[in-house]
Amino acid sequence: MAAPELEIVPLTVAAHTTIAADVHRYWVGGRTPPMHVLFVHEFGDLSVVALAGDQIAGFLYGLRSTTEPAGYVHLVGVHEEYRRRGIARRLYAAFAERAAATGASQLKAIVRPDNAPSIAFHTALGMTATAIDDYTGPGETRLVFRGPIDDVR
Ligand SMILES: CC(C)(COP(=O)(O)OP(=O)(O)OC[C@H]1O[C@@H](n2cnc3c(N)ncnc32)[C@H](O)[C@@H]1OP(=O)(O)O)[C@@H](O)C(=O)NCCC(=O)NCCS
Repeated sequence: MAAPELEIVPLTVAAHTTIAADVHRYWVGGRTPPMHVLFVHEFGDLSVVALAGDQIAGFLYGLRSTTEPAGYVHLVGVHEEYRRRGIARRLYAAFAERAAATGASQLKAIVRPDNAPSIAFHTALGMTATAIDDYTGPGETRLVFRGPIDDVR
């Protein structure tokens, strides 16, 4: 399906509140993530949402790592009715542009090993994964995806 008319805008408290109230529609598998408003107040110049008219089609909560020169994608979610239309790609490009302006040269994202769509998405962006055992706690293996920020902007 063709990409809808989209506007990529900074995350606001109002958008965050809307997303948090409906987060299961942007996620898969029933394990909805905690949604922290700190991403508006502390990282709101990097985090972005995709608007399709008055609908929030997707969001990306990200920050600039202080331990490495990376833009770190904490959460990305595209509304279930808007997937496979290039929206996550647009969100990553907008975030990469903003993170690069802070001096970041890499993108980094953490993916669960059973999240096949997310693995396919990050691979399609040209990012490469390393599986790290116990990444988020005992027995919690995660795929750590990394890639040059210039490949995504
Ligand atoms: C992962 C996710 C964000 C991708 O969003 P999206 O807007 O549908 O992705 P895009 O349309 O930008 O996809 C770009 C490319 O990634 C790949 N891709 C994305 N989703 C895919 C899927 N389900 N299966 C296979 N490849 C996929 C494709 O190569 C796609 O290009 P194409 O459609 O031209 O073939 C979306 O599936 C989602 O919101 N999932 C639930 C939340 C989640 O798991 N977030 C990630 C947590 S780490």
